[in-house]
Amino acid sequence: MTAPLTVALADRSYPIHFNESATALKAEVSQLRAAKRSIRVISDARVLHAHPSYLAQAGFHDNEILSLPSGEPTKSVEFFSQALSFLASQAANRDCALFAFGGGVIGDLAGYVAASYLRGIDFYQIPTTLLSMVDSSVGGKTGINLPEGKNLVGAFWQPKAVYIDAALLQTLPPREFAAGMAEVIKYGMLADAKLLSNLEALDGLDASSEELPAVIRRCCEIKAQVVADDEKETAASGGRALLNLGHTFAHAIENVAGYGTYLHGEAVAIGLKLATQLSVHLEQIPAGDVAHVQRIIEQFKLPTQIDEPLKVVDLMAAMQRDKKNRSGHLRFVTMTHLGTAVTTDGIGAELIENLWREAGAE
Ligand code: GLY
Repeated sequence: MTAPLTVALADRSYPIHFNESATALKAEVSQLRAAKRSIRVISDARVLHAHPSYLAQAGFHDNEILSLPSGEPTKSVEFFSQALSFLASQAANRDCALFAFGGGVIGDLAGYVAASYLRGIDFYQIPTTLLSMVDSSVGGKTGINLPEGKNLVGAFWQPKAVYIDAALLQTLPPREFAAGMAEVIKYGMLADAKLLSNLEALDGLDASSEELPAVIRRCCEIKAQVVADDEKETAASGGRALLNLGHTFAHAIENVAGYGTYLHGEAVAIGLKLATQLSVHLEQIPAGDVAHVQRIIEQFKLPTQIDEPLKVVDLMAAMQRDKKNRSGHLRFVTMTHLGTAVTTDGIGAELIENLWREAGAE
């Protein structure tokens, strides 16, 4: 049995359960029932199809579950409204406990529903993808997309608990598993050189690898610490923003290519290489680190180059719109060593344009 981790946020602290998480989940559901609390679950069609009895075994009832279409378009105002109506039409009240059973899309949407409904109800995360286990289910960022951009509406709303069961990854399509690995590699690059070298030493990783649970736990440890130190990403430098290593590039790629062309993790993988090149240009790390990072990314079957006809001018415009920019200046996360990251402002547009061209943009 692996002990739970704690995300330390004073009176909003919460546990992340591993290994025995199905048992812990079952116990939570029976406690909620004993307290006569109402329970609802938001999930998606792919996840419910892949895990037909998981929720029932944990004690949930079919009529408590809302199944939404799977995929990024579900993270929209339309499905946000549908999910709110699901709660309101069944007269769910303030004591309702809302569970997200799915990947990042479902977790972000359900979290924002929980943050908004009756000005906030209890929320629990049961992530089913590698990406949501290591990143989006922990830390309380919730929200939806607008046609103008990703995650433009949302709230910080911490879950009451996170239940991570790596066995759920057995049915995850290999492309999605690989996309989750981009975030794992990201943690190594920004905070843990040892994790990065451990990853490099592995001959790939898949859902049945015995090393996987420890890798997921290490990522959650890093995330829990960063979130505890800078929950709302308000640190003047460093802090939670460091979790966005590669993401300023990645969000621009996703936005210009059209959401879904690249999975988020695939765009992050390209962004990680670009962030490494940028760090080299700023003379913060040696040039040889680019090939090193590229090798690790490719080892996990992820792209490092853009293979769609994306225009530099469009990518630059998308970067300017990124909500992470401060006072109109582009802000990047760069590395001072592989395993240590910093936030860097005031980088010239020309340098970034050249990097985009090197990455395959036109
Ligand atoms: N995924 C970045 C964060 O949670 O801050």
